[in-house]
Amino acid sequence: IEVRFFIVVIFTLVSDSCSENKNDDRSGPLLERLVTDKESEIGRKLNAEIECSAIIPDDELFIQETLIRWSDDVGVNVILTTGGTGFSSRDVTPEATKQVINKEAPGITHAMFTESLKVTPMASLSRAVSGIRGNTLIINFPGSPKAVKECFNAVANVIPHAVDLIL
Ligand code: MTE
Repeated sequence: IEVRFFIVVIFTLVSDSCSENKNDDRSGPLLERLVTDKESEIGRKLNAEIECSAIIPDDELFIQETLIRWSDDVGVNVILTTGGTGFSSRDVTPEATKQVINKEAPGITHAMFTESLKVTPMASLSRAVSGIRGNTLIINFPGSPKAVKECFNAVANVIPHAVDLIL
């Protein structure tokens, strides 16, 4: 099976977010590189193709509509979001995700937190959610490139089997 990926980049505009430079999205391109990197074992295993990617504002309805369109109409296997998971009033990615998923996948989020907490206590400031909508797995990642890398390493290995089970 060729796992098709779709990456949504949630643009976090708030100043208390952890992304180092709010006008320069590095986390989306980093996620794209991580999932498609044929030099790495996990990259080869994922054999991912980026169907599409976008930078969208921290707007709950807009995020919901994007998640729905890309899971129902485009029909990708996985949507990875980055950013908007923190505590500021404009961080609404988890709320938007909860509204559109049919089933939660708390184990995936738990794995990210467990590994992240070994690196930084700040990991508890992410409210990331994972779940399934139809045939699509949706995983929220925090916004900083550092967090993206750490969280990706914590969950990437289970994604191929998760996708097989959902289909
Ligand atoms: N998780 C990992 N693995 N590494 C990190 O450096 N940073 C945290 C947290 N999760 C971090 C992490 C911080 S500082 C914040 S504020 C939250 O993610 C939320 O980030 P977001 O609002 O950009 O999504």
